[in-house]
Amino acid sequence: MSPSGSGPEDRYTAAPFVPAGAGLDGLRRAAADCRGCPLHRDATRTVFGAGSADARVMLVGEQPGDQEDREGRPFVGPAGRLLDRALAEAGLDPADAYVTNAVKHFKFTRAEPRKRRIHKAPSLRETTACWPWLAAELALVRPELIVVLGATAGKALLGSSFRVGEVRGTVLEREIHGRSEPLVPTVHPSSVLRARDEDREAAYQGLVADLRIAAHILG
Ligand code: URA
Repeated sequence: MSPSGSGPEDRYTAAPFVPAGAGLDGLRRAAADCRGCPLHRDATRTVFGAGSADARVMLVGEQPGDQEDREGRPFVGPAGRLLDRALAEAGLDPADAYVTNAVKHFKFTRAEPRKRRIHKAPSLRETTACWPWLAAELALVRPELIVVLGATAGKALLGSSFRVGEVRGTVLEREIHGRSEPLVPTVHPSSVLRARDEDREAAYQGLVADLRIAAHILG
């Protein structure tokens, strides 16, 4: 970022790539060619959301991980498996959810060339650049409830002051496309995987408890 905050990053946006009037399949095809920020350069592919346009609940994560980048679907790696287990335990069928990410490309570093790719959190600019895709998904799916998985999704949906620890497990509202949308924030499933061995079960049960709030709202 330039000191004045007016560097080329300020012009990052997916907006020109989002086709007007497209359905989910049309959006997915267009997103494959998104060049709205530099993350497309190193990622293998765009990982667009998955699920039905009729889904009652939308789950929003951060960005695809290594496995998602290879397979082209969100939450198919270790975090996704843990999320599916937690959803089922909370009484939500993962197959009924529309699952997506705030950022549609995998951002990573490598300690050394040809070594393992290490996840790197997207910047607020990259997240903001990618917002038009998430906004378009929300406009088409119009979910009854949005489950916000972690800080990046929270900042994308609720603003940069979002702090997951302060609001997790509560029901928030945000106006999106002229409708007041209920959102339930919780931790990102990766944070459960990263917890120390002795803390992991409590972290997992915390995620399940937050997801039960979402299940309760959906009735
Ligand atoms: N983490 C995410 O936030 N999204 C994915 O799709 C996978 C891991």
